[in-house]
Amino acid sequence: MSKTRIVVLSLSVLAVVVSFVVAASGPNVSATQAEPPAAQTYTGAKKCGSCHFTQYMAWKKTNHSKTFDLLTSKYEKDATCLPCHTTGYGEPTGFKDMETTPNLAGNTCESCHGPGSAHEKVAQGFGKKLTPEQEKTVRDSIWLMRPKNVCVTCHKAEGHGKTGTPPELQKK
Ligand code: HEC
Ligand code: HEC
Ligand code: HEC
Ligand code: HEC
Repeated sequence: MSKTRIVVLSLSVLAVVVSFVVAASGPNVSATQAEPPAAQTYTGAKKCGSCHFTQYMAWKKTNHSKTFDLLTSKYEKDATCLPCHTTGYGEPTGFKDMETTPNLAGNTCESCHGPGSAHEKVAQGFGKKLTPEQEKTVRDSIWLMRPKNVCVTCHKAEGHGKTGTPPELQKK
């Protein structure tokens, strides 16, 4: 085996190792993603479901769709609870209260994928059958996963470690 052949071989081994490490690092895929258009507004899960019916039905069955229901009337306007038990609380077009934004109660699609109004418009501009280029344009208009490991913004020890679940709401 020539010297260059060995170098090429070890480089390809390295590439396999690197791609394995990248794949194993979990759903924080932002490094490989295009940046979606900024300043999108929240639309609510029903609108997403009109094109993504399978994902909508699957999400409905998860507890993420019901996290607002965990808050009793005493807590449903409590600003310390809402960031994690609603969608986009504190952002201009995010959850405000049940009267004005009932469609953003609970952890909807946009908790993980980010607001999708522009994504919806881009997708509506194409027909039912997308060319590969059109599909890429649509995919690039929303996060596959919000960057910076979005799960941990809610699933962190301090969330309930510091304040604790109020005693009367704790699961037996
Ligand atoms: C008008 C139809 C339409 C609407 C409404 C829509 N989408 Fe999509 N979305 C698409 C299409 C088409 C694709 C391309 C992939 C495919 O065909 O499933 C896509 C792709 C995606 C992807 C993959 C992104 C990637 O990087 O691969 C995510 C995540 C997504 N949509 C989430 C949402 C969310 C969240 C909403 C609601 C805010 C939403 N979509 C609303 C049509 C739509
Ligand atoms: C930092 C995010 C965060 C905040 C803030 C937050 N929660 Fe939670 N909550 C969670 C997560 C995540 C869970 C799922 C269980 C877990 O991982 O701790 C949860 C679970 C719950 C549960 C189910 C019982 C349990 O302990 O698992 C109740 C009830 C609840 N939260 C009420 C509240 C109330 C009331 C407040 C405000 C006083 C609040 N939460 C504030 C993230 C949060
Ligand atoms: C708790 C977070 C979370 C919620 C809530 C959520 N998703 Fe996702 N979604 C994900 C993750 C994680 C992936 C997979 C990312 C990957 O492949 O690395 C994904 C993937 C997708 C894809 C891409 C599928 C593909 O193979 O191209 C679509 C479309 C999508 N979700 C739509 C939705 C819709 C619509 C909703 C609401 C009805 C929703 N998601 C709710 C986290 C979430
Ligand atoms: C906006 C806040 C928020 C985000 C973002 C979020 N979660 Fe959650 N998640 C919650 C809350 C609150 C609960 C508690 C539901 C309950 O106890 O009924 C929960 C519940 C869960 C559960 C239990 C689900 C079930 O149906 O029993 C899993 C698993 C989970 N989350 C994983 C994830 C993952 C993985 C991500 C990122 C892809 C994520 N979560 C993002 C707030 C969030």
